[in-house]
Amino acid sequence: MREVYILRGVEKIYGRGEAATHALRGVDLEIYERECVAIVGPSGSGKTTLLSVMGLLDKPTKGEVFFLGRDILKLTDAEASKLRARYIGFVFQTFNLVPWLSALENVELAMSIIGISPAVRRKKALELLTLVDLAHRVEHKPTELSGGEQQRVAIARALANDPLVILADEPTGNLDSKSGMQVVKILKDLTLKGKTVVIVTHNMDIARMADRVVKLRDGKVVEVA
Ligand SMILES: Nc1ncnc2c1ncn2[C@@H]1O[C@H](COP(=O)(O)OP(=O)(O)O)[C@@H](O)[C@H]1O
Ligand SMILES: [Mg+2]
Repeated sequence: MREVYILRGVEKIYGRGEAATHALRGVDLEIYERECVAIVGPSGSGKTTLLSVMGLLDKPTKGEVFFLGRDILKLTDAEASKLRARYIGFVFQTFNLVPWLSALENVELAMSIIGISPAVRRKKALELLTLVDLAHRVEHKPTELSGGEQQRVAIARALANDPLVILADEPTGNLDSKSGMQVVKILKDLTLKGKTVVIVTHNMDIARMADRVVKLRDGKVVEVA
């Protein structure tokens, strides 16, 4: 299987001098195409930092990161943005939907940003909302949806540009366990459609649904199971 990510000795230090925080202290990790990987670890262990490096949102202070064979330290910001828009979809704990837009419009918005025509947009947004079991809720606004439904809209939105990778940071953190499981099942099933899925979670029941669990502690990988 092709490697989507190769990380070698990745360190991330925020700030300088007295105020410096060593968020990652030498992470070695490979993530392969079509894998569902869970990243677990206590609060402050570097999970979000690791995800932002994988999301090409932040460069490591030290070490190497290859994304689809490209050395991310050599990318300009513009090149990183372009790769991110083409290949990566994000899902957040707080859903981050636009409150005044319907479910359908939220998904369409993500497509208008990458320049897909309105007619194609609507058809594809409907398909994606059907995929996450929300065909009956497309006209609803976020406040008219449950947490689990909002997160499923957010997953449909993350899929709008047909990314290769989905990065989800505590996607079930604001959900009850039943809707959390449903959301993770949807995320995991995306691997059957060729996606690579990385889920940061506190919850071991959720992590166990992944193909592989990576445990972080104090900015280091302590266990890969
Ligand atoms: N932008 C930032 N500036 C300074 N310190 C940060 C920043 N982001 C995270 N940190 C620090 O880095 C460490 C790891 O944070 P984070 O990656 O958010 O951990 P987690 O997601 O596992 O809770 C923490 O000590 C946190 O306070
Ligand atoms: Mg975090």
